[in-house]
Amino acid sequence: MSCLRLLLRLCALCASIAVTATSLVACGGGATADPTDGTVRALSLTRSIAADRVAVGDRLFNEVALSAGGRQACASCHVKERGHADPEGAFLPLGGPALDQQGLRSSPSLHYMNGNPAFEWDADARPRGGFTWDGRANTRAVQALGPLLAANEMAHPDAAAVVRAVRALPYFSELAAAYGLPPAASDDQVLQATQQALEDYQAGDVDYQPFTSKFDAVQRGEALFTAQEQRGLNLFNDPQRGNCASCHSSTLRPGDALPVFTNFGYFALGVPRNTSAATADPAFFDMGLCGPVRTDLANRTDLCGMFKVPTLRNVALTAPYFHNGALSALEDVVAFYATRDSDPARWYPTVGGVVQRFNDLPPAYRGNVTRQAPFGPPPAGGPRLSPQDVQDIASFLRTLTDGFVP
Ligand code: HEC
Ligand code: HEC
Repeated sequence: MSCLRLLLRLCALCASIAVTATSLVACGGGATADPTDGTVRALSLTRSIAADRVAVGDRLFNEVALSAGGRQACASCHVKERGHADPEGAFLPLGGPALDQQGLRSSPSLHYMNGNPAFEWDADARPRGGFTWDGRANTRAVQALGPLLAANEMAHPDAAAVVRAVRALPYFSELAAAYGLPPAASDDQVLQATQQALEDYQAGDVDYQPFTSKFDAVQRGEALFTAQEQRGLNLFNDPQRGNCASCHSSTLRPGDALPVFTNFGYFALGVPRNTSAATADPAFFDMGLCGPVRTDLANRTDLCGMFKVPTLRNVALTAPYFHNGALSALEDVVAFYATRDSDPARWYPTVGGVVQRFNDLPPAYRGNVTRQAPFGPPPAGGPRLSPQDVQDIASFLRTLTDGFVP
């Protein structure tokens, strides 16, 4: 039995926790992303983390008492049934004590992130990795403090308030025991254990990396794609057509390495402005890597407009799409790739007879927007992607939803 099969078999038995350290070592585990394309060995995706840590992290993740208003948990915006992304039918998330403060960005799926490296510059000095759409947190433990303190999320005024809420939990002793906190644990120690438990839960719970999609079943020889899904996959991979796999890595590699459909890189796609955002202040632009949410790369104007390539696993469940939630139908996202440059008026408003291309970026930075395929001028002989191709790719993307039963 291959290591992957062994892992899957074991996880079926252990329900939610990872395999033991010894079986991971025996299989050569360790969460390493492939340096070239981000493909991660499936085997290493579920980390070996003590069951009591995963369990208390799970409770904290679902705990509304962790928010200032007592009404919002991590799970309110990251819903299990939706790939741990936005709830069904959600627009952009609301938060704050009264749940009336508008967020700016779509809640990403939290699945398949164990291979997501810390923020780094690759061999070509291109940005890669990090957590959130702009990669400003190097680990999920660091990231977890963000929503706890954000005014439009769980809205605690400061870290001390978070710690008070954690100490008041009826199961605080479980957190203390799992992380070996001393009886007189300092606020810093309690906060660190809380953040680490939230990371450990996401890293160690098999819900976050089940590999049970139809795509995975096909790789294991347990199912067959329909003709349409297969056409969609071929278009997805073809550098002259969809070229999707150049950023959303899709290749099955030797040794049971199942792809996670992202290379963790950054690109500016020039997605349309989400004009229905309640906060729509015409002077405000969310420019991703160069700010203003992220602050350390403010002088790197060559990076303005770039956001992290998201995984496409479970993408049929994770609307709204793109960092700003501009589109809500999967077919529209694929159609945007197909026709952004050939039919821009479909995506951007026209003012005084001029189509406002890339209107969610200040004009000075619109040159950062990528023109690599499937964007840019189509090859001789017609469009890269026909309306039928768009349907085929969308049909393939639906095979990436976990929970497939052959
Ligand atoms: C009000 C909705 C909301 C709540 C509550 C919330 N999140 Fe999020 N989450 C988001 C949004 C929006 C983003 C994207 C943030 C960004 O890019 O700046 C995000 C991003 C993330 C990421 C980064 C994923 C990636 O693709 O890099 C992680 C991990 C995460 N959240 C975990 C948590 C945890 C843990 C909690 C609870 C402590 C939590 N979230 C609470 C909305 C929420
Ligand atoms: C040049 C790199 C690149 C290529 C090529 C590419 N993507 Fe993307 N994709 C991205 C980035 C970056 C984002 C996030 C952009 C944003 O939110 O501003 C994204 C977002 C998406 C999303 C939205 C996911 C979500 O959770 O919001 C879907 C769906 C998607 N891509 C599908 C595709 C398909 C299908 C193709 C091929 C037709 C493709 N991509 C080609 C980089 C790429």
